[in-house]
Amino acid sequence: MTQDGFLAKVYDLSGADRVEAYYDAWSDSYDAELTEHGYETPARCAMALQATETPGDALILDFGCGTGVSGYALSQAGFTRLHGCDLSSAMLAKAEEKQIYERLWQSEPGVAPDGSHDVIAAVGVISPGAAPPETLGLLLSALKPGGRMVMSFNDHALEDPGYVGALETALAQGVRILHEEYGPHISRIGLNSRVYVLET
Ligand SMILES: C[S@@+](CC[C@H](N)C(=O)[O-])C[C@H]1O[C@@H](n2cnc3c(N)ncnc32)[C@H](O)[C@@H]1O
Repeated sequence: MTQDGFLAKVYDLSGADRVEAYYDAWSDSYDAELTEHGYETPARCAMALQATETPGDALILDFGCGTGVSGYALSQAGFTRLHGCDLSSAMLAKAEEKQIYERLWQSEPGVAPDGSHDVIAAVGVISPGAAPPETLGLLLSALKPGGRMVMSFNDHALEDPGYVGALETALAQGVRILHEEYGPHISRIGLNSRVYVLET
């Protein structure tokens, strides 16, 4: 399948201002475009979290929640307590319409969450075209000991030493991988991702 919408150019973006503006413009058509191209990582992340026997009432921050596709997958898997944040106010407005989040707010780049969450999800977020590699350490620093993070690295991130290095640094500091699995990310463009559940 060809890429003719926003998906075609998203992985070339850099800089929080450009990322925010791009996703603001994409918000109306994001769900339809990703559904059409077979966006599989949200369901895979939700299943990975289930596989680690994370309680259904764990308070989860869906970081970079976008329009709520990732939160919806988590709610479908039985996770009931969701907060969400994102750089893009227009994406957040779409997430609000899904009525699955207890709280939603606009986040600032480089600012860590407040440390109140049992789990942080970063689904399709830490990637070229979205959040930079240092986001991984920032999010892990906002978890209590024993806190969990479910996240994906797509093939672009897996090929980028900055992203791979951020994960290696976290592991060297004692973060553990509870679950790891490689599979389809956006299946109709042939892009895969590795899904991880990490524990601090
Ligand atoms: C590919 S979308 C994924 C959205 C959602 N998690 C999903 O699975 O559909 C990436 C999202 O990350 C957000 N984002 C990018 N960089 C970010 C950052 N530094 N902090 C918070 N959100 C960010 C974008 O605005 C966008 O909504």
